[in-house]
Amino acid sequence: MIGKYNALLADGKTPPSDDGEWVRRWNEAYFERTGRQRLAYTHSFGCQQNAADGEKLDGILASMGFGFTGRSEEADLILFNTCAVRESAEDRVFGNVGALKNQKRSNPNLMIVLCGCMTQRPEAAEKLRNSYPYVDIVFGTGAMDRLPAFLRERIESERRVFWSEQSLKPLEGLPARRAGGPKAWLPIMKGCDNFCSYCIVPYVRGREASRAPDEIEKEFREILSEGYREVTLLGQNVNSYGKGLSEPVRFPDLLKRLDRIDGDYWLRFMTSHPKDATKGLIDVIAKSGHLCRHIHLPVQSGSDRVLREMNRRYTTADYLSLIAYARERIPGISFSSDIIVGFPGETREDFEQTLDLIRRVGYSQLYTFLYSRRSGTRAADFPDPVPAAEKSKWFRELLAVQQEIGSRFNESLVGSVQKVLIDSVGKEGGETLAGRSEANLIVETKGSSNLIGRFAEVKITGFKNWAVTGELLK
Ligand code: 5AD
Ligand code: SF4
Repeated sequence: MIGKYNALLADGKTPPSDDGEWVRRWNEAYFERTGRQRLAYTHSFGCQQNAADGEKLDGILASMGFGFTGRSEEADLILFNTCAVRESAEDRVFGNVGALKNQKRSNPNLMIVLCGCMTQRPEAAEKLRNSYPYVDIVFGTGAMDRLPAFLRERIESERRVFWSEQSLKPLEGLPARRAGGPKAWLPIMKGCDNFCSYCIVPYVRGREASRAPDEIEKEFREILSEGYREVTLLGQNVNSYGKGLSEPVRFPDLLKRLDRIDGDYWLRFMTSHPKDATKGLIDVIAKSGHLCRHIHLPVQSGSDRVLREMNRRYTTADYLSLIAYARERIPGISFSSDIIVGFPGETREDFEQTLDLIRRVGYSQLYTFLYSRRSGTRAADFPDPVPAAEKSKWFRELLAVQQEIGSRFNESLVGSVQKVLIDSVGKEGGETLAGRSEANLIVETKGSSNLIGRFAEVKITGFKNWAVTGELLK
């Protein structure tokens, strides 16, 4: 099975299974009849993990003979890879699915496929079943390899397909159709066992399972040989990588192993749960040649009481002492974080402790979220007395404080020389370029577009709220 999938990576043409073979013949017959390829329009919502899953779903579709289009109106198959982390994410998916009703009416052969986290929330699956009868196939993240089988079943039986089973093992060897550009995702594990009280992920993505280090290294080498300059290792909690594997390997060991591979590239990882981030991890970054001196380390709240209610299993003191250790060992290291505002029972005092913590850390970037109730999670049953308007006020306050912190961080870079991975033409077009620094900050500069996809050195001369600007040195 794995061998078959890897063969796909080589020529992009070998169908993934007997069912894939069948779908491919179905596509070939269509091509013979119409002279054109069936086209897929695919879109992933949500986090990087989901984006990485989306690349694998695209890889499977390509192997079955689908072409791709960026215009959903001309597609024969539309696939949404959905997110469920907050209610707003689900609303966006339902909005997009609702907009397909007329298209399906005028083209009954259109195949509408929904995959990903949202489909594994029973309430959402039920809603799709009952209120969106034109959706053809619905399945979750653990069943991506079954996409060919689902397509075949839908076409042959004419019944709608709903599949809710979780898989216990991580999926190995699926072909990826990467988005291109200089950056690649590399999932190293699936699922999550942490059960933070607000979070739906452990329910929709199932139990944690790590991929074998050999498989990861193989895919890593393939990515590098394709010319990618940055690889981000992905997992819901990469720091617990290795649990349950037969060989005793922990995340810092995996990092060391990959870092030893020669080449001009950056290595990143996300997401790190602070409870499992160790000094050993920091030591590996300190000694590494490829790891970026930047860690995304979501703290969620600056109040120990709220952290306890969230079931985060660390205190602000633990968190701050890890940051202090990292700063001592790795000069110039930066941190980004996620914060939830308005967790059930959070008081003004708790919130002020969060403001205090973000000031103390001085994050380069902060991703801020208003708490969203997710049924089935523990926090969904907690009393939640603070009115929404008050939470929104706190949220705006947090944004304003971080904007100042971020600006100060950016200002502190003025005069320094930063290594930058140039990834696109700048917003103003022409000879402008944009890229990312090690801290993952946007860097704007001027230069020729043939630098896109390469590393450059930029002397930082100015800053904005959301970016720094500078002159290209080489
Ligand atoms: N409400 C708001 N934000 C949430 N996150 C996860 N679950 C929720 C929720 N129910 C945020 C956390 C997490 C990020 C990916 O999304 O901050 O780190
Ligand atoms: Fe990613 Fe969580 Fe959204 Fe799933 S629910 S796509 S794991 S953010």
